[in-house]
Amino acid sequence: MPDHRLAPTHWNPRGEAEGTGPRGLPVRVWGGIPGEEGSIKVVHVGEHSTAARWRGAQEPHPHRRDPMCEKWTACGGCSLMHVTRMGQELARRDLVARAFAAEGVAAEIGQFHESPDGERNYRHVVKLGVEFSDTGRLRVGAWGRGDRRIVPIPHCNVAAPVLRKTMASIAHWIIELAIWPWDPNTGQGALRAVVLRASRTTGEVLITLVAGKHTKAMGELAERVHEGVAEVAGVWIHLNDEPGNAIFTRDGDGVVGVSPLSGRDHIEEKLNGITYRIGPGDFFQTNPGMAEVLYRRTVERMAPGPDDAVVDLYSGVGGIALQVGTQAGFVVGVEEVEGAVNRAREVSRLNKCNAEFQLGQVIDVLPELGRRLARTHPIVSVNPARRGLEPGVADAIAALAPSRIAYVSCNPRALARDIARFQTHGFHLDGPIELFDMFPHTPHVEVLALLAGPAAEASAGRAPRRKVIRAV
Ligand SMILES: C[S@@+](CC[C@H](N)C(=O)[O-])C[C@H]1O[C@@H](n2cnc3c(N)ncnc32)[C@H](O)[C@@H]1O
Repeated sequence: MPDHRLAPTHWNPRGEAEGTGPRGLPVRVWGGIPGEEGSIKVVHVGEHSTAARWRGAQEPHPHRRDPMCEKWTACGGCSLMHVTRMGQELARRDLVARAFAAEGVAAEIGQFHESPDGERNYRHVVKLGVEFSDTGRLRVGAWGRGDRRIVPIPHCNVAAPVLRKTMASIAHWIIELAIWPWDPNTGQGALRAVVLRASRTTGEVLITLVAGKHTKAMGELAERVHEGVAEVAGVWIHLNDEPGNAIFTRDGDGVVGVSPLSGRDHIEEKLNGITYRIGPGDFFQTNPGMAEVLYRRTVERMAPGPDDAVVDLYSGVGGIALQVGTQAGFVVGVEEVEGAVNRAREVSRLNKCNAEFQLGQVIDVLPELGRRLARTHPIVSVNPARRGLEPGVADAIAALAPSRIAYVSCNPRALARDIARFQTHGFHLDGPIELFDMFPHTPHVEVLALLAGPAAEASAGRAPRRKVIRAV
């Protein structure tokens, strides 16, 4: 297809520069920058949008730079890598502003917190897929841009160095042991994905093999990688034979089932003095250096006092709840993954935190919590998955009559939608929202918003004594 000229006007949530084409439809330009006029190559004309690649401009944008990765386009995981750090900050600010405007929510966008570990080596989680190439060779790597074909990424420079080393060993042994990719249609093969998590504190690595079926080769793979890479603390297996792209699946009780292949069941990560335990299948922040700043700011803005009760919803392995630690009268976390709840309880005990963790879905746990915390006007923190709060959760939180709500989100559109919901209950944004560069080079950003409730001023409530509200 011939080249065209375009001046993209804004970023889209995928990190492409977007403009308007001749038929009034959006044109999504990989490698473009809003405000830079130049030539584009159209690669696909769809019903609702056109996909194109940036070819060049006579006057390159002042924020343009060479992406520092040879797999930049094929992998597609770092769609803003061709933009300077300042340009990336402006892109995130623009995306957040557009998400809030789309939901009709007014917000002041305040500080942008830079990733303390810089723009390389920050990633402490990597997920790898396996497939046969067109020439029938086994390939291990990231799911590529657009078509999800596997792209080997042995030199990925946003991954922590220990993960690069571990990825190389895993890829080598998968190929050497001829472990075939799982085919959900035929039931042939075995391996679907490999999830690696490294600790920034200890340098240790925990590996979860995600397989359609458990074969002898899985044990061999675990043994070889464990022997070959000293930093590997443990290798586990999670069985998932469901169709679709989800990596982890749950059994009928909502449990993410894992079995040991070798080594320990957790690694440790220390943030702001709290040593967390992270197991296979647990969520933990991708960029621990940035998470440390995010947690510190979240607790500062929640400002819990010794008379306050704090409710941390979607608590994972205790991320925010354990940071509140002893500052509040009482802390309760709610999380649906059993292993994560067990680890949060262990760490709470070890750190002598006055925190309790409940296993369950937030929507199911909130009514009983509401009864226990009646008239206490707790401080609530929420940090849900990308989809935001499930239907009914914002209303159930509002029914707790919290004095403040700290909302940490990786999806500004869902955050704005949920803030609008809280506003119907009389809550308002208290101060600017803050942005945290958890994922440099991507359009993603972590956002912290603080809401104050109608009870904030009126609140004279004290945290109930632990005896009164202890779980039954
Ligand atoms: C984005 S993570 C946040 C974890 C934690 N706040 C942290 O900072 O590490 C979201 C967590 O919510 C949990 N989760 C998702 N949906 C849930 C639900 N409906 N009820 C309870 N927990 C849920 C996930 O298992 C995950 O641990």
